[in-house]
Amino acid sequence: MPITINGAPAALPDDPRVSLLDLVREHLHLYGTKKGCNQGACGACTVLVDDGVRILSCMALAVQYEGRSVTTIEGLAAPGGLHPLQREFIEHDGFQCGYCTPGQICSAVGMKAEWQRGVPSHVTQDLCAETIAFSADEVRERMSGNLCRCGAYNGIVAAITAEHAEVAE
Ligand code: FES
Ligand code: FES
Repeated sequence: MPITINGAPAALPDDPRVSLLDLVREHLHLYGTKKGCNQGACGACTVLVDDGVRILSCMALAVQYEGRSVTTIEGLAAPGGLHPLQREFIEHDGFQCGYCTPGQICSAVGMKAEWQRGVPSHVTQDLCAETIAFSADEVRERMSGNLCRCGAYNGIVAAITAEHAEVAE
């Protein structure tokens, strides 16, 4: 059974040692997903699987995702369009060199889904609350696995917060 990448079926590699990141970049030439550390420490390779769960594609084998669905930054919005988070990253200077940005944006999409499911973070004060308040501290903590060597963190938090406010309106 093939793997589905951004809605299209793709063949799995013959070599079971190929990571999901290398499948996406080297086999399918989708270069949006970045290889930073290649050891699970930077978040540059973040993609979404199945119903929007964020994973580090450098730490996953492509064959593990046989028959499953993967979304990379190229598949977040319709061709030629931008996802609301992409728009807000531009609006709020959420990047400088842009290397970490695809991972930041995919991670933010997954992070918001976790928050909506009521998954607490290290800074969540009330673990019994029906809804977890969406705050800059929550965003910083939940996005702490995505490093930015340019230090665009304030813009990243502003972009995610703005997109959240836009959706909540
Ligand atoms: S490249 Fe995967 S976490 Fe750094
Ligand atoms: S924008 Fe350069 S590493 Fe984040």
